[in-house]
Amino acid sequence: MAETFPATIEGVKEYWNARPCNIRHSQAPFGSRQYFDEVENRKYFVEYHIPGFAEFEKWKGKNVLEIGCGIGTDSINFARAGAKLTATELSEESIGVCEKRFDVYGLSAKFLTGDAEKLSSFVPVKRYDLVYSFGVIHHSPNPELIVKEIKKYMGSESELRIMLYSKYSTKNFLIRLGLMQPEAQTGCPVAYTYSVKDIKKLLDGFDIISIRKEHIFPYRIEPYKRYEYQKSFPWNILPRPVFRWLEHRLGWHTLVRAKLKLA
Ligand SMILES: C[S@@+](CC[C@H](N)C(=O)[O-])C[C@H]1O[C@@H](n2cnc3c(N)ncnc32)[C@H](O)[C@@H]1O
Repeated sequence: MAETFPATIEGVKEYWNARPCNIRHSQAPFGSRQYFDEVENRKYFVEYHIPGFAEFEKWKGKNVLEIGCGIGTDSINFARAGAKLTATELSEESIGVCEKRFDVYGLSAKFLTGDAEKLSSFVPVKRYDLVYSFGVIHHSPNPELIVKEIKKYMGSESELRIMLYSKYSTKNFLIRLGLMQPEAQTGCPVAYTYSVKDIKKLLDGFDIISIRKEHIFPYRIEPYKRYEYQKSFPWNILPRPVFRWLEHRLGWHTLVRAKLKLA
């Protein structure tokens, strides 16, 4: 029987410790350079919107605070681009892999483990140029507490870039029908979804610079698990411009850029 995890911060931590996000993105020897290269290739092949959203090169020499770094695919790209990165994460297993990844590439960052709902209890408060969090806040039992904490690390010039799961998306429709689950591993204890209206409420005190949807996963699951990419119906018959049009309307990832409201 599939393991169940309570919808508490402990349950969330246990879930991501049991299987850190994207850990099976490669079959190469775990922890090798080839392994991490393949993890990155697969992630940015399937989630091709991430580099454009993060704009890694833009943060060269800047202070970046990442919340929920996971095994560090985006983290390593911020570091490669020359950002001064502080990477935080709830799951010790995930951040451990992230640290190993930095060792493999000879890059450095500050790594801090803890619950972002209490960020200021383990991350010294200072201004960051960018607070970045991709697919994390909706997995925490109290996302509004994370947003409240994030504000402490932002000044008038700082930017927030986050990805939240979309309420109005093909994936959420299929989840509601019981035909899909939010994550690769069953039993995800917390995965909230948001409409644009919900996001505006969550980001109270922020001016939203941009908000857009991306990401419809078009591949058949079984071949995908074998690292084969075969599109399923109806995605296999749609011309790419039509598919992209649909991603912007019904994608699973809502990408948000925001700044603190000026008093
Ligand atoms: C879907 S993964 C995304 C990881 C990474 N951002 C990426 O894109 O690969 C979600 C991550 O959020 C982390 N997380 C969930 N709740 C958290 C919290 N309250 N504080 C810090 N990290 C949290 C989990 O441990 C997990 O690694």
